[in-house]
Amino acid sequence: MHIRILGSAAGGGVPQWNCNCANCRRARHTRSFLTQSSAAVSADGKQWLLLNASPDLLYQFASFPPLSPAAPKLRGSSVAAIVLTDGEMDHVLGLLSLREQKKLRLICTRAVKRLLTNEFPLLPTLGKYCRVRCDTFPVQIAGVSISKLELPTEKAPPYSAPANRRGVVIGLRLESIRSKRVCAYLPGLPAITKDLSERVRGSDCLIVDGTFWSEDEMISSGLSSRTARKMGHVPIGGSRGSLEWLRTLDVPRKIYTHINNSNPILRKTSRERRLVEQQGIAISHDGMDIRL
Ligand code: MLT
Ligand code: MN
Ligand code: ZN
Repeated sequence: MHIRILGSAAGGGVPQWNCNCANCRRARHTRSFLTQSSAAVSADGKQWLLLNASPDLLYQFASFPPLSPAAPKLRGSSVAAIVLTDGEMDHVLGLLSLREQKKLRLICTRAVKRLLTNEFPLLPTLGKYCRVRCDTFPVQIAGVSISKLELPTEKAPPYSAPANRRGVVIGLRLESIRSKRVCAYLPGLPAITKDLSERVRGSDCLIVDGTFWSEDEMISSGLSSRTARKMGHVPIGGSRGSLEWLRTLDVPRKIYTHINNSNPILRKTSRERRLVEQQGIAISHDGMDIRL
């Protein structure tokens, strides 16, 4: 199984267009940009699953040739389906950029489908341009069996109705039918549960939410008044952080993704980055290839 990190940043990317924080300034200066969170997965190197559709998708496709149609085809796509982990802007706006294809296949939870049909009617709008077939989990597509990793969450986009948030954010379990290799993909981790630990144990690779280093990162950097958990992200550091969890988890490859521009792990020489790497945990970047 081949996993390609197309975008490793959280919503806004790095640099974020309206941000002048130290990380964004450095990214502009060194021209090292990170696009918004997305990945592509293939069991056979021919057909691909797109994991979330970031607003930066056109650039991400252009940077990874296997996602473009191969000669002698004039039009077409190697993307067999688009799989969504949630209905946040940074994970769905790119769907609108796929409208030139006659048929699209989308996999998401019923809650996300409802969200993108009613509160944020992206799917009915897209449906005016092309046929969108929408299925839910579990499914088998392109030699990959795809199931959801359920997460308890208070987290939902501002445009979602507050009543029932079950299924609005999930993780993905992707298993190659042929090689039996398993990758768990969780760009949003609102909470760590026993059930989740059970379900990801024994995976070959875990790619997980690295949005924030600390609970009060946005507050102390003067960017927002909300804590990491309030924003739906377990921070990496601290006693109940994801680093503590990952340390004890029996998974050979662990990788942080969906990294916010405020996060000190983006700085190559930071103490925080060193603490992560000392645990044998990788920090993803755009264009990272993972082969299982
Ligand atoms: C999040 O996961 O919290 C998002 O990155 C928010 C957004 O896209 O605005
Ligand atoms: Mn996000
Ligand atoms: Zn910034």
